[in-house]
Amino acid sequence: MKISLNILLSLIFLFPLPLLSPLLPSSSTPNDNAIVSLIDQTCKRTPYEDLCISSLTSNPNRSRAAGVKELAGMVLDSVLLNATDTLAFTRLLIDRTIDPEVERPLDYCAELYIPVVKFTVPQGRDAFYRGQYKFAEYCLTDAARQADACEKMLPGSAVSPMGDRNRIFQQLCSVAVAIIDILSKDQ
Ligand SMILES: *[C@@H]1O[C@H](CO)[C@@H](O)[C@H](O)[C@H]1NC(C)=O
Ligand SMILES: *[C@@H]1O[C@H](CO)[C@@H](O)[C@H](O)[C@H]1NC(C)=O
Repeated sequence: MKISLNILLSLIFLFPLPLLSPLLPSSSTPNDNAIVSLIDQTCKRTPYEDLCISSLTSNPNRSRAAGVKELAGMVLDSVLLNATDTLAFTRLLIDRTIDPEVERPLDYCAELYIPVVKFTVPQGRDAFYRGQYKFAEYCLTDAARQADACEKMLPGSAVSPMGDRNRIFQQLCSVAVAIIDILSKDQ
């Protein structure tokens, strides 16, 4: 016991700390650089690299990013959160609107986003985790199509009351499809 303590102490003095730090318990994620470079490399292969990087690096679950499959799972979580968020925002706009001309297209958008949140994206995510990548991609493409249909209903002349939410949601879906595609090609 005494000897091993002496050895440990001499190791600490002989070696610079960075060499020893892998041996010491650490509270921070040990492979943070690896995660960042995996995110960078993967996002380069998607059509919206910046959106991909920002959605993954800001994700509180990023520490689980052990591989491309985990990244795809995280983007799918973001897609679902974003659709849920957009539906809530649409309902807020509907509540605030007194003009029926404005409310009608928003009602239509809510009708489109409800099944996206309840069925399309969750089904796509389930399919993804079962390894049914083509069906998962189909679900996401369909979800993006609903956002496009919503945007087309909104009056084009004025600034869209939904801002760029529909567009960003579509882009997020494309990012998810691209990452799932990487996985299906590497199979
Ligand atoms: C984090 O992971 C949990 C469990 O998988 C999931 O429910 C949640 O939506 C994720 N959060 C984000 C921001 O992706
Ligand atoms: C979804 O995207 C919109 C548009 O950028 C953004 O404002 C919103 O914060 C996002 N929500 C989530 C939960 O990612």
